[in-house]
Amino acid sequence: MFSKDGKTKDVATPRICDVVWHNGEFIKWGDARVHVMSHVLHYGSSVFEGIRCYSTKKGPAIFRLREHIQRLLNSAKIYRMEHPWTLDQLCDGAVELVKQSEMDQCYIRPILFRSLDEAKPAFGVNPFPNPLACYIGAWDWGKYLGDEAIERGVDVCVSTWNRLTPNSMPAMAKSGANYMNSQLIKMEALLNGFAEGIALDDRGYVSEGSGENIFMVAGDTVLTPPLSSSILPGITRDSVIQICDELGIPVKERTIQRAALYVADEIFFSGTAAEITPIRSVDRITVGSGGRGPITEKIQKAFFEITKGERKAPGNWLTYVNEAKQSSSNNGFAGSIDSSTTEQPELSYQTAPSE
Ligand SMILES: Cc1ncc(COP(=O)(O)O)c(C=O)c1O
Repeated sequence: MFSKDGKTKDVATPRICDVVWHNGEFIKWGDARVHVMSHVLHYGSSVFEGIRCYSTKKGPAIFRLREHIQRLLNSAKIYRMEHPWTLDQLCDGAVELVKQSEMDQCYIRPILFRSLDEAKPAFGVNPFPNPLACYIGAWDWGKYLGDEAIERGVDVCVSTWNRLTPNSMPAMAKSGANYMNSQLIKMEALLNGFAEGIALDDRGYVSEGSGENIFMVAGDTVLTPPLSSSILPGITRDSVIQICDELGIPVKERTIQRAALYVADEIFFSGTAAEITPIRSVDRITVGSGGRGPITEKIQKAFFEITKGERKAPGNWLTYVNEAKQSSSNNGFAGSIDSSTTEQPELSYQTAPSE
């Protein structure tokens, strides 16, 4: 699927929205630029989100918008970014952007970063003197791990690179800098002929893919690493957990050994870009029967029906762009299953209460 050098193929991008949201206004795509001496370019000081908007019978619908924007605000808080933007403003900005794009489906990318005050430039690591900037862009994005991946699955490897340690770079913040680690994982995988790499945490337990959370099926139970395995608290991960609950499939957060992947009945990735993608081999060891397993298929089917607006979601998960503003906010995203199923206490990851 990928060329050996990994350079020639990227995710299909049939359209890019020609305007970008900036501080409540829309600017032309070509005007959304930063100075090369901006803090973010040198020191990685950005936080961002990736959100999908799906085509439904009622027009475009953004999947779990408020939860994504809440995670953006949480990431900003962790990095002490004191900014003026509110959950509602950013949600409204994303909705308005999709309207302006006239796209029926797209990927939405909000980003908040340390910029440069050209009148009073500051070049040191200390981020505080630098102004913050916030933008939202959108484009039509194809299947992240390839068109066939959703049905046939992908071949992956365990990376030689570990995921970030909790006290070096917090994996629970979606910061631009974290993705230097992701790039090492991804490049190594591509250059060795795999679609994706799975990183272990600093203790050697399974963490996540370079841009996805991971689930495995053992018997009738679905297992996924806890937040303490240095994972991003994925919103698709949370959706999978809630879908499993609804389908009556037992699901547990557990630390997972690398070898457990080799003997799993099924494995799949979850993520906004990758959606739910089955894994058919790990380190060239076939997973289960080597394709999409029955439990993965059940969860995937329910997920896609929900995103298309064809099945009732466990919460208020879709923001229909052509309808009135979304009003409810806490849609049940906790980022972690209750602590009784985890081996050690987890940080809870809650959306803000309704305004
Ligand atoms: C490192 C990493 N883990 C997990 C995920 C999945 O998170 P989500 O389901 O919120 O997109 C992503 C994607 O954003 C990611 O980049």
